[in-house]
Amino acid sequence: MRTPFIVGNWKMNLNKANAATLVQDIITGLHTSIHEVEVGLCPPFPYLERISKLLEGSPIVLGAQDGHWAEHGAYTGEVAMPMLVDVGCRYVIIGHSERRQHSGETDFIVAKKIAAALEAGLRVILCVGETEEQRDQGVMEDIVAGQLQGALVECFPDDMASIILAYEPIWAIGTGKTASSEQAQEVHEFLRAWLSRRFGDATAETVRIQYGGSVKPGNIRSLITMPDIDGALVGGASLTAEAFLQIVHQSAG
Ligand code: PGA
Repeated sequence: MRTPFIVGNWKMNLNKANAATLVQDIITGLHTSIHEVEVGLCPPFPYLERISKLLEGSPIVLGAQDGHWAEHGAYTGEVAMPMLVDVGCRYVIIGHSERRQHSGETDFIVAKKIAAALEAGLRVILCVGETEEQRDQGVMEDIVAGQLQGALVECFPDDMASIILAYEPIWAIGTGKTASSEQAQEVHEFLRAWLSRRFGDATAETVRIQYGGSVKPGNIRSLITMPDIDGALVGGASLTAEAFLQIVHQSAG
């Protein structure tokens, strides 16, 4: 049985004051059914430490939106994985399409970042997904399989205990267009079959696969009830406590 995992990816939004208010409102609004769902928040780097303190004693886990592949050194502007651990992170998002698109992140870099995150003791949320054009051309499966192959090239079955996949069709991110639950399920099933071939059935069955792309209170239920959808990576709707809490609560049983 895979516990649904709902993660708020704040991206480059909010400020110190309203980030703190949002976290407090989320903590206050969580129902006791929270044990049926794992909840995570990924704030921007400068707020991580403060939010880590606010989350103390709550079941919510802290994550970062990215991290560098080097352990330390002359990489101006970058943040190392051990630094994330140092400020209380348990997770890191790697390979988000916005980083692939705007920061030139390749599968090779993604693989190096995964190795660095695992080495530091972080769990990884690995994002994959196709553009609208790729979907229209019918190469969607080749694209996501290629991203998995490139990202997980160095991984062994045991590593998969620390890796969560997030299927995020690029055409659905921040656009208000969501993949239908059937479209998403189809890709999730494909990803799990890929994992089975690469790591074996038993491992594939335990890996959680989140869906991401315009997840809202109005569509989470139909997504989460699909057999291979094990949670959501939520952007826009994670910026208000009410919407995020509705998504969390609707994911619980
Ligand atoms: P969105 O973003 O929910 O705003 O579409 C999702 C994501 O990019 O993780």
